[in-house]
Amino acid sequence: MADGFASREERAAFIAGLPKAELHLHIEGSLEPELMFELAQRNQVAIPFASVEEVRAAYAFSNLQDFLDIYYQGMGVLHGEQDFYDLTAAYCARAHADAVRHIEIFFDPQGHTARGIAFETVITGITRALDDAEARYGMTSKLIMCFLRHLSEADAEATLDEALPYLGRIDGVGLDSSEVGHPPSKFERVFARARGLGLKIVAHAGEEGPPAYVHEALDLLKVDRIDHGNRSLEDGALIKRLADEAMTLTVCPLSNLKLCVVDAIADHPLKTMLDAGLRATVNSDDPSYFGGYVNANYQAVADALDLSKADLVTLARNSFTGSFLGEADKAKHLAAIDAYR
Ligand code: ADE
Ligand code: ZN
Repeated sequence: MADGFASREERAAFIAGLPKAELHLHIEGSLEPELMFELAQRNQVAIPFASVEEVRAAYAFSNLQDFLDIYYQGMGVLHGEQDFYDLTAAYCARAHADAVRHIEIFFDPQGHTARGIAFETVITGITRALDDAEARYGMTSKLIMCFLRHLSEADAEATLDEALPYLGRIDGVGLDSSEVGHPPSKFERVFARARGLGLKIVAHAGEEGPPAYVHEALDLLKVDRIDHGNRSLEDGALIKRLADEAMTLTVCPLSNLKLCVVDAIADHPLKTMLDAGLRATVNSDDPSYFGGYVNANYQAVADALDLSKADLVTLARNSFTGSFLGEADKAKHLAAIDAYR
């Protein structure tokens, strides 16, 4: 058994109560099949599934694109402000149950505006639920607007224009969707504009794409964090740079398994990342599609890689130090981890 625990059960209990932040979560990827059916009925939208079981059975993916096809289809049931509220409130309740104290969540406005849903409807529903989660659970949040990289930079620019009236509620911008063939360089100008507006910058890079995409995210987009970053491990100079710059990687173990980024969870590089001095964190990405919220992700890698108490504490500490919270808030959360351990 790993250092610090007498049994796997003891480690599971430690994970369950460990204070943590979640930094990589697509709110549309938290749409559980039960809510999908409810919203399909509410909005009179046809879905190609007869039961919750049928939906779950369809969640077998061989790569990122396989998943994205079903993910964009699934979000089609979201129409009204209350739908976005219900989606976000359900996620916040799950995160709270996992001892998550702070969340930094993504939303994909282009997945909605392209269907005729107003930007305002999306952001109002999400932020109302985030406000309620803070009042109810004391859970704080940041909101990150992602650009869909399979679309054009002009489309991303138009989305940033639409976001301008809401910059008081948007903390950062990100880059997601189909990675290979859509390098960060395609979006250099729109990210420069976002940076000029004072927004934090993140980008999915090195999930399926090569280490060169991680270099581009750093050099051209000037990211504050890398989402995933797995393939950075193929490039020794990049590993050193990420470690030297204390760059946070928002790693998503169950996502990597379901999207075949790794063949087995025992092959997951999280421990290798920690041992290389990288500031890795554990996150759920699209928990409804990938089979577990944040604690399930910690649990899966803890068991497969036999993580010690010190490893788990490092991961939880990284989730706060890598967050966009202010220094005083970070210190408060780190003290809570120290008191818990
Ligand atoms: N959109 C939602 N989840 C994603 C992921 N894991 N990678 C890229 N785009 C996404
Ligand atoms: Zn993601």
